[in-house]
Amino acid sequence: MQDSATVRRERARRRKNLMRAIGKDSIAIIPAAPVKSRSRDTDYTYRQDSDFYYLTGFLEPESVAVLISGRKAAEYILFCRERDELMETWNGRRLGVDRAPEVLDADDAFPIDDIDEILPGLLEGRERVFYSMGRETLFDNRIIGWINQLKSKSRSGGSVPSEFVSLDYHLHDMRLYKSRAELALLRKAARLSAAGHIAAMKRCEPGCMEYQLEAELISTYRNAGAEHSFLPIVGGGANGCILHYTENNMELSDGDMVLIDSGAEWQGYAGDISRSFPVNGRFSEAQRELYEIVLEANLAAISKAVVGNHWNDPHEAAVRVITKGLIRLGILKGELRKLIKEEEYRRFFMHRTGHWLGLDVHDVGDYKVDEKWRALEPGMVLTIEPGLYIPDASDVPKRYRNTGIRVEDNVIVTDAEPEVITSAVPKSVDEIEALMAAS
Ligand code: GLY
Ligand code: MN
Ligand code: MN
Repeated sequence: MQDSATVRRERARRRKNLMRAIGKDSIAIIPAAPVKSRSRDTDYTYRQDSDFYYLTGFLEPESVAVLISGRKAAEYILFCRERDELMETWNGRRLGVDRAPEVLDADDAFPIDDIDEILPGLLEGRERVFYSMGRETLFDNRIIGWINQLKSKSRSGGSVPSEFVSLDYHLHDMRLYKSRAELALLRKAARLSAAGHIAAMKRCEPGCMEYQLEAELISTYRNAGAEHSFLPIVGGGANGCILHYTENNMELSDGDMVLIDSGAEWQGYAGDISRSFPVNGRFSEAQRELYEIVLEANLAAISKAVVGNHWNDPHEAAVRVITKGLIRLGILKGELRKLIKEEEYRRFFMHRTGHWLGLDVHDVGDYKVDEKWRALEPGMVLTIEPGLYIPDASDVPKRYRNTGIRVEDNVIVTDAEPEVITSAVPKSVDEIEALMAAS
């Protein structure tokens, strides 16, 4: 599918901005994600590298984008696979080298099989190479090989880049600020994620299996043409206390809570929602007491996701509500300030309150600038996801044990109030009970 003219203009702007940021005499090399084998002759679902996609919009593997700022002949060069009737019959369509300039706005395109001959020449005369070293060892080694090739040649005159700089600093800072078009894609990913959660909530009843709720999530996403942005987490009872539980293979029991953490991916952009609800559709007193604390923490944290605050303000608000609540329920004992200072809550709330959200679920962008928490600015998108995970421990009141609760929303920082783009999924006790009673 070809991107619209608006999207293409936006990608061109990104490449220009990046080239301006890295300065002339520089070259940036951005490889596509490699294909990963799943078992003999079958691969994992291919997912394009987010940096590569952000700059090119190209979804094929075995491609490399090269940006050469200020180069007269061509600044944006793409290496990609050539058309091949036999290979395309077996493995799918290819754009091909001839069509790449027209479809992807590359100034020039070459066959990926020729990269070893061409790339050293592009490096020649450049002072700095911008590249994200350390992600893919095989590609790292190829870059080193091209440089070495150039070095051996330079003994007869050519100049070799003398600096290697991480591309992440400039590129990831750009990616942190979402454009209007990106926000629209994130809103759609959030809408589809919400629809998946609602379907799973409706499907849930005692005796059904965790994977059956997973199936509701995935089928909702796929029916809309989306993917899942990460493996869904569906954990009943004690499984809800395992933060990255993805086995999803146990029965859901009457009287337990279930925690679902899942999101859709729409045109590369991720949704990431968590909801926790009683398997039988009615909160017990103990479940309600715990749930209300997490919900209050979620709302308190969201209200802090505003311009003028810094990255850690929502987390600090959530920690305060959670610690206060744990004292109220007799799970923590002591003085609020001291318990917060000594991080006693971490036994029950061991992760942070959120992360940036975008093309990656845990999106790029620094959380600190000059060792200080980053100021929140319009166009930044983050998750707010406080949780409480009460283990099966003898020093905790019995009625609360084996309960995992997380309430996670996706939030856009704006000039005004935070925009919660995942509010379509019920999250108050009454809303959840009403939805489950109606199904
Ligand atoms: N699903 C991963 C997270 O919530 O961060
Ligand atoms: Mn999540
Ligand atoms: Mn998350």
